[in-house]
Amino acid sequence: MGVFTVENVWVKNILRDVTLNVEDKVTSIVGPNGSGKTTLLRVMAGLIKPDKGAVKRPGKIGGSWQNPYFSFTKPTVLEELSETVGSKSEALEILRSMGLENLAGKSPFTLSMGQARLISIILAVAWKPEAVILDEPTNGLSCGWKARVWRLLRNMNTTIIIASHDVEFAFTISDKIVVLNEGIVVGEGSPRDVLEKGYLRTLGLPEPENWRGGL
Ligand SMILES: Nc1ncnc2c1ncn2[C@@H]1O[C@H](COP(=O)(O)OP(=O)(O)O)[C@@H](O)[C@H]1O
Ligand SMILES: [Mg+2]
Repeated sequence: MGVFTVENVWVKNILRDVTLNVEDKVTSIVGPNGSGKTTLLRVMAGLIKPDKGAVKRPGKIGGSWQNPYFSFTKPTVLEELSETVGSKSEALEILRSMGLENLAGKSPFTLSMGQARLISIILAVAWKPEAVILDEPTNGLSCGWKARVWRLLRNMNTTIIIASHDVEFAFTISDKIVVLNEGIVVGEGSPRDVLEKGYLRTLGLPEPENWRGGL
């Protein structure tokens, strides 16, 4: 499991003095559109250098980004996954276990947004990194697929950091929630703490309806 520390990070006016420790298995960053979630993930992944502050991160980080097609370079889904895991048979096994073997021969660039997102998440995880960073992992996914992604992620022994405006998903999968507004961390804690303290309500954000207070 990888550990991240973000200390007094500034990126223009997009992130303002953000300090954050990630030690839990699953941490989700939630907040309104434009609050800086994607920028914070990119700083944590090392894709953006902060103007001020410091970030410590694990050496091997997998990512699935808001545009999942950015993850792809190969002519077929099977080749894409084979390169990541090192063998065709293992790649096929992973696709079968997710019920996605029908996508094996397809070009990843012709997949629907939901399918592309699933494959980009599977690629990030299958690489066996110390940490996985997932930007809006449930965008374009049906309820059934969200549940399968939930199980895939919870069953992994890897640090997972998610940015999401899907509060149902974030609250049910996470050990810790970080609330970001206008580039500032305005609250953090267990999902229960964050709800009880009303951090989402204060920002006028919806609260999860079907969350029963546990994973
Ligand atoms: N490269 C950039 N240059 C300038 N402004 C940016 C850049 N990237 C994002 N922004 C702005 O920073 C803010 C935060 O964006 P973002 O991190 O994508 O938020 P979120 O993921 O929470 O929607 C937005 O106002 C966005 O317009
Ligand atoms: Mg975003």
